[in-house]
Amino acid sequence: MNLEQIIKNIIIQKAEPIGFDEFMNLALYYPAQGYYSGGVQKFGTKGDFITAPETSDLFGFCLAKQCAQVLSPTQNILEFGAGSGVLAAQILFELGRFNKLPSTYYILELSAELQHRQHHTISKVLPELIDRVVWLKTLPDNFSGVVIANEVLDAMPAKRLIKHDKGFYELGVDCQNNALVWQMLKRPYRNKKLPLPTKVLQGYTTEVNERAVAWVDALSQSIEQGVVLLIDYGMGRDEYFHPQRDEGTLRCYYQHKASDNPFEHVGAQDITTSVNFSDIADQALASGFAIAGYCTQAMFLISLGIEQYLLNEKDEHRRIALAQQVKQLVLPSAMGESFKVLALSKNAQVKLNGFQEQDLAYKL
Ligand SMILES: C[S@@+](CC[C@H](N)C(=O)[O-])C[C@H]1O[C@@H](n2cnc3c(N)ncnc32)[C@H](O)[C@@H]1O
Repeated sequence: MNLEQIIKNIIIQKAEPIGFDEFMNLALYYPAQGYYSGGVQKFGTKGDFITAPETSDLFGFCLAKQCAQVLSPTQNILEFGAGSGVLAAQILFELGRFNKLPSTYYILELSAELQHRQHHTISKVLPELIDRVVWLKTLPDNFSGVVIANEVLDAMPAKRLIKHDKGFYELGVDCQNNALVWQMLKRPYRNKKLPLPTKVLQGYTTEVNERAVAWVDALSQSIEQGVVLLIDYGMGRDEYFHPQRDEGTLRCYYQHKASDNPFEHVGAQDITTSVNFSDIADQALASGFAIAGYCTQAMFLISLGIEQYLLNEKDEHRRIALAQQVKQLVLPSAMGESFKVLALSKNAQVKLNGFQEQDLAYKL
C-alpha cells in the first residue's frame, strides 16, 4: 500500500483529522516509505534540493574552522541528520589539515538508508578516518564538544495554525472523498512557550514547531559542555510573524520545484517550514544554554574567512568554480541572508570567531 493510502487509513481509523505535525511526521519519516526513510535521491542536482554542503566544500571547511577554535583534544563532534555525509567529510578533512581531529565524529541519523550513504561517502573520501565516525540512534549522555545541525530543524514536523475569531486554531489534515484536505481543528491552540502574533487578520496562517523546541530541551540535557551550531533558513519572531507573511512558511520540494501543497507526491517530496529562531533561543535559555551568537550564513562564513580559500586557490579554473560556489553561499539573493546561524553554548566561555563580523542576537 502506498504512503498516501496508509495516511488516509490512519485518519479514517481515528475518525478525526490528525494534526499537520503528525501528517508531516508520517510523510517524512514513516518506516521505509517516508521521504527521509525511503531510498529516493534527495540531495544534490539529481534530487529535490541542494543544501549548503552539497553546494561547496568551503561550507564545511569554514565550519571546521569554527570547530577547531573550540575543540579540545578529548572532545567530539556530533552531527544531526547528516544527509549524504558530505558535510562530515568536509569537516573531518579540514580538521585533519589543522591537526585538530575530534576523538569521535558522531552522527545521529534517523534513516538507515542515509546512514548507509554517509558511510559510503566518508569512507570513499577519507578511508583512514572512517573508524572515527560512529552512528547513533539516540542522544548520547554527557556529550562534550561541538554539535552541528544543518537544515535539521526545518525538517522537524511543525503544526500549522490559522487565525479564527479571537484566537489561533490548528489546521489539521482530514480525509474527505478519498482526498487529503486541510481541516481546522475544534479547540483554540494555546502554548505558553510559543508566543503568537496578536495583530493579524482572520485567515492569517503560520506555523509553530513544538517538536523543534522539545528537541532543544532534550539536547541541553545530553550536553555537559560545548557549543551547538544550528544552521537553517528562518528568522526571528518579528519577521516570522510579519503581517504580510500571511500564508506561513510551509514549502514542499519535488525535483527542484517548490510548492505549498503537502498532499501531492506524499513520501516523494520534501516538506519543510522555516525556523522561528526566537522560539529556539527562548527554549535554549530556559534549558540552560547561553546564546553564543546569531547571524546570517553569509556573515558567519565571511567571519571564518571563506574568501581566503578563494585567494589561496592558484588554479584559475578551480578559482572561478569556487567563486561561483561562494556566491551561492553568501549572496543575499541565494542562501546568504535567508539562512542563519544560531550558536548555543553550555559551560563554555568563548567568543566564537564565526560572529566576529555580525551578531544579531538582539533581534531574537
Ligand atoms: C534537509 S535534510 C539536511 C541534510 C544535511 N544536514 C545537509 O545539510 O545536507 C534534513 C535531515 O534532518 C534529519 N532529521 C530531522 N529530524 C531529526 C532528528 N530529530 N534527529 C536527527 N536527524 C533529524 C532528517 O532525517 C534529514 O536527514
